[in-house]
Amino acid sequence: MTWKERTYCGALTASDAGKSVLLMGWVDAIRDHGNILFFHLRDVRGIIQVVFDPQKDRVSYDLASSIREEYVIEVRGRVTLRDKASQNPTLMTGQIEILANGLKILSKSKTVPFQISEKAMVFGEEVQAGPENVDEEIRLRYRYLDLRRPSVQDVFKKRYRIIKCIRDFLDPLNFIEIETPFLTRSTPEGARDYLVPSRVHERKFYALPQSPQLFKQILMIGGMDRYFQIARCFRDEDLRPNRQPEFTQLDLEASFIDEEFIYETIEELTARMFAIGGISLPRPFPRMTYETAMNLYGTDRPDLRFDMAFVDVTGIFKNTDYSIFRQIINKGGEIRGFSVKDPGGMLSKNILQNDYAKTIVPRLGAKGLSWMKVVDGKLQSNIVQFFSLGEQERLLKCFEARDGDVLMMIADESGDLVKKVLGRLRNHVAERLNLIPKDHWRPLWVTDFPLFELKDDQIGSQHHPFTMPDRVDFDPDDVGALQALNSRAYDLVMNGEELGGGSIRIHRMEVQKKIFQALGLSREEADAKFGFFLKALEYGTPPHAGLALGLDRVIAMILGTPSIRDVIAFPKNRKAFCPLTEAPSKADNTQLEELGLHQFSGKELENAQLSSTNENPASINRVPSQKISGEEVHHVAKLARLDLSEQETDFFQKDLNSILDYVETLKNLNTDRVPPMSHVLKTDNVWREDLPEGNKETDPLLKNAPMREKGYYKVPKILEG
Ligand code: AMO
Repeated sequence: MTWKERTYCGALTASDAGKSVLLMGWVDAIRDHGNILFFHLRDVRGIIQVVFDPQKDRVSYDLASSIREEYVIEVRGRVTLRDKASQNPTLMTGQIEILANGLKILSKSKTVPFQISEKAMVFGEEVQAGPENVDEEIRLRYRYLDLRRPSVQDVFKKRYRIIKCIRDFLDPLNFIEIETPFLTRSTPEGARDYLVPSRVHERKFYALPQSPQLFKQILMIGGMDRYFQIARCFRDEDLRPNRQPEFTQLDLEASFIDEEFIYETIEELTARMFAIGGISLPRPFPRMTYETAMNLYGTDRPDLRFDMAFVDVTGIFKNTDYSIFRQIINKGGEIRGFSVKDPGGMLSKNILQNDYAKTIVPRLGAKGLSWMKVVDGKLQSNIVQFFSLGEQERLLKCFEARDGDVLMMIADESGDLVKKVLGRLRNHVAERLNLIPKDHWRPLWVTDFPLFELKDDQIGSQHHPFTMPDRVDFDPDDVGALQALNSRAYDLVMNGEELGGGSIRIHRMEVQKKIFQALGLSREEADAKFGFFLKALEYGTPPHAGLALGLDRVIAMILGTPSIRDVIAFPKNRKAFCPLTEAPSKADNTQLEELGLHQFSGKELENAQLSSTNENPASINRVPSQKISGEEVHHVAKLARLDLSEQETDFFQKDLNSILDYVETLKNLNTDRVPPMSHVLKTDNVWREDLPEGNKETDPLLKNAPMREKGYYKVPKILEG
């Protein structure tokens, strides 16, 4: 059995010189010196150079001459030291090579669509254009080839080690790993569900879990004491670089504990996970209430790698003569701002006025920006003349302004809007001015979130309705008092990204009932949604709490990848589509019929399509979906150097989305009997038979064609990429 004899390429070192080895792997690169052949042989542990010398072994040399990149081969040979001049320090095995004395082709490979090799065969030579330059869509379509790259394999080896570190850490703390179901009922995380139709229960659906929330609480009611799971979660929501429809959480829950247990345990675990990536996190993790985070940074996940905290300057302008500020303050509004160090002088008056005040800030959602530059200890801007000297002095003082600083302030009747827009502006400016230090890690616990939020005059839970309020003696009918309640929830934030969140849970039914009453949910309505859970709550529930860390986000941050797609073996693309398997795909008619979904089978759809194709798609009076966001429209407009107003953006967004919706409906058209429009035959030497030589209509059009052949015009053939 040869596998017992096998040695890994990357495991060999200079101390193995003289040994005979058997290696198996992929041909990474080939260099032909005319009378001698060099291969880079690659396996999961590394790359080694193999030499085929016809003087030593003619048979192997001849076979090696027929081999191409990515063939899978088995090589027998002797480990030899390379002389100093031919060593390759970019390879771990660069001091040695294998003198081949046996070769077998285990399988051949077609020419690969992009280069996989990442290592030059000769030290100092540049590697040809790497896969980083290959479109991500193509890399995902051929993910098995992409995965062969050592740098990609490294990501998944580290992912494995990080997850192993979680298990090693939680085991001695008496956490046990328990799996919870995928085919379940809707869970209360607030995104859309992925539904799975049931064949046995016609017209009924399972929901894939958005998180194991209710199951982990039931495990606590079941006395399991401490649970964790590396859990797959499913959420149908708009995708971003840090969001996937299917992602992994470290989900955990424990009984008879409080917040401090979570802070202590998760801080230690997070520090250990980051240490695997060579990152030492500053400890202890600081804590900040939601209110402070909003007041100082305008977001519940502040990036603390840079300062630029907000200053509330409303008080300075209480009696101002500047009418815009006065009116805003009289209407209960506020004025806040931050100061930016701008040593490079990138924020010229022109950029501040035309870029920021007129374009960027309105796009971020505020009406305008008040900006000031500090020059020779004084404020300069287009509005400073309206401020009294006292106001100017107080501004300089409270921003601790120095020469070269730029002050940016937003005033609005809505304090919430001021904070939110200023928060976005803070991030924007820091990024644009390169003020965010790389390789800095600023963890933060955000605590004391409001329990409820008021949306369209309706009280709703900020997190989920099972989160414990900070006090339980509230009146469920007093909307004002409800809004003042905080939850015992906490988020772990790092460098401006939410890595995880959780809460102390409600464990007494009378409190749970008050929460439902506050939410305007009758017991019947609550039962219809989570009856199974509420029933369990009444049978002796221990006090318990938990948290979930978004593992893909944690790993992407540790490894410094731009998107969580890079740390997921088979991710979906930005449109929630898998380029490898082409999922989602149409279901078979028989399958649909078995599931009782025959109204979606071909016949009915075809009919539906036929009736809808009579309509002009633009006139279909439907609200378009939101596949393309306003941000994406802005981005494309920016690339096309178009400056769109908000109204134009809305218009384009609606238009593009209705076109996409229409295209979506076309996917279901039955095209079985429609002849293909593109030619599947080779395009050279295909003559159009319908146009006889010397055609009157085409002659004038083609008279400048560069070539004629046998009386025909020769035009370039169409190349498909
Ligand atoms: P939450 O909804 O905050 O809490 O999720 C926890 C963490 O999961 C990650 N996350 C995601 N990662 C990738 N793609 C997504 N679409 C996605 N959505 C969320 C984030 C987030 O912080 N059941 C509660 C936890 C609890 O209360 O114990 C929950 O799921 O990093």
